[in-house]
Amino acid sequence: MCGIVGALAQRPIMAVLLEGLKVLEYRGYDSAGVAVLDHGTAHVVKTAGKVAVLEAEVKAQGCDGPIGIAHTRWATHGKANEVNAHPHQVGNIILVHNGIIENYQELKHKLSFEGYTFKSETDSEVLAALIHYYQHRELKPDSSLKIHTSKFNAFNQALNEVKGTYGVAVIDTENPDAIFVARSGSPLVVGCGIGENFVASDIIALLPVTSKFIYLEDGDRGIIGRDHVMLFDRDQVLVNRPVQSIQVNPEILGKGPYKHYMQKEIFEQPEALRNTLMGRLDEDNVSANAFVAQEEQAHDFLEVLKHIEHVEMVACGTSYHAALVGKYLIEEHAGISVNVTIASEYRYKRTIVPPNSLFVTLSQSGETADTLAALELAQRQGYRHTLAICNVDNSSLVRMSQYVFLTRAGREIGVASTKAFTTQLIALLLLTIALGRAHHEIDEHEGANLIASLHQAPAVVHTVLQLDAKIQELSSDFVGKEHALFLGRGPMYPIALEGALKLKEISYIHAEGYASGELKHGPIALIDSKMPVIVVAPDNLWLPKLISNIEEVKARGGKLYIFSGKNFGHSAEATMIDLGTVSPFIAPLVFTVPLQLLAYHVAVINGTDVDHPRNLAKSVTVE
Ligand code: G6P
Repeated sequence: MCGIVGALAQRPIMAVLLEGLKVLEYRGYDSAGVAVLDHGTAHVVKTAGKVAVLEAEVKAQGCDGPIGIAHTRWATHGKANEVNAHPHQVGNIILVHNGIIENYQELKHKLSFEGYTFKSETDSEVLAALIHYYQHRELKPDSSLKIHTSKFNAFNQALNEVKGTYGVAVIDTENPDAIFVARSGSPLVVGCGIGENFVASDIIALLPVTSKFIYLEDGDRGIIGRDHVMLFDRDQVLVNRPVQSIQVNPEILGKGPYKHYMQKEIFEQPEALRNTLMGRLDEDNVSANAFVAQEEQAHDFLEVLKHIEHVEMVACGTSYHAALVGKYLIEEHAGISVNVTIASEYRYKRTIVPPNSLFVTLSQSGETADTLAALELAQRQGYRHTLAICNVDNSSLVRMSQYVFLTRAGREIGVASTKAFTTQLIALLLLTIALGRAHHEIDEHEGANLIASLHQAPAVVHTVLQLDAKIQELSSDFVGKEHALFLGRGPMYPIALEGALKLKEISYIHAEGYASGELKHGPIALIDSKMPVIVVAPDNLWLPKLISNIEEVKARGGKLYIFSGKNFGHSAEATMIDLGTVSPFIAPLVFTVPLQLLAYHVAVINGTDVDHPRNLAKSVTVE
């Protein structure tokens, strides 16, 4: 993963680099570094820890310059310390890298033989050395007139030898007028200014300095100068990628009245759901424009669905949990079989593609490496159609897919995903209705009822958010707990998984989600008076069975917290949190919200870094 920022201007750019890094911390934050060139002298500052530590060190050293690159790291090869932090310098070459160089051991061996020694344990330093190696073989003493070309040739030669993924930016102490960039499997965007240009892993790093961007395509390499940007495609042909004007209000990046981004994003859910539904519903069906075709000649998606006999869904993390809910919904209401696989599993196993299958990817960021690789594989495997449910327009996933549903959750910054998840559920509810209507499994009457319950979702979530104070109060029960169990049945089973994931990722309490019918096959052995058991119990088909499982926990002295939609009797052993009557169709989405609040408040009490939990990153762009 990692975040990259680079800048080339006629003014000092350290502030641009550091501000850019701060907003890229969602991509990793275990160490950071920056390099600037000032009159041919390189200043490289690296620190372990978050960007704030780097900023203090830069201030202490007082360095700046008109060209530089910076990096915030999520460690893959080598510990999260100062030496392994980027940039890596080998002679005149200074490099930042996002991705994994898979054949780095082999290259390291070859370069060691040529006399290179390495300071860090990283794969990235090997790439810096390889560029240096080719540059010094390539550059003849009389070639100074063609300095860009020769140096760029060397850059290309090195990258041609690399296996793996990379977004890279390279500066050169001998050539302070260019940043070389390349993208293969990791995102990179060029920001265009007047007499200055920038590069970053994500446009948000550059919003304070420009609104004009060029998205690099996979395989692109290029030279960024102050007044020009030259890009070459994977066949090394000069290409003209469009400059896109993107207006994003930088204020959306603030926390407003909230203490953490995660808290803000939980409370933004009614609005996010409303935005995601807006203009996408007709009276008894999803509107024709809800799912957008990427190519002009493509068929209308609702027509396409008529021929779909199977759905394959692939995602990671929280998005994977959304897909699991989707399976229950689509099979139940639309009668179409659905398979759900974790992307990192999908990409390395044999898959049998049933005829007329739709391949659906779900991703908040649209940049998750495993999900992108799974989609690439699916395209080769001959899926009839591909659909991306994604929160980031222009992301790699969106650009690679045939049909797209943008979730319109707004920028999600907290590492633990909240509003992206519930808006993904909206997307899946719409897909369920569209498939059900296309296959005559949902008639007009039922279609109208389901649509009506969707319209209610934002208001119902708003009401559930009023439980915040109550949930905050009960979260103190979790102080000192090391384990927790989340139980659900049917579509609430994935919600139990998601509740457990939220709690473990931000509060560091070990939590497991279980289908409550499985309790007796193992987890029941863990239950005692110290074990909190959280049950997601809306009033639905599965409730009577779930109540039996609750009794099993009670009988063993477990401490129960029941989020219910129907009052089924209080007892001393259970804390009941009543959400009121909720339509079963939207219940997965609604019952997620109190679990998010619970995880949030427990994490705050535990004093963890809620928005940046240890070892995690928001966007996992390495495999
Ligand atoms: C990381 C994040 C999770 C997220 C997962 C998948 O692990 O920390 O919150 O669910 O990646 O990300 P995606 O952007 O593909 O939904």
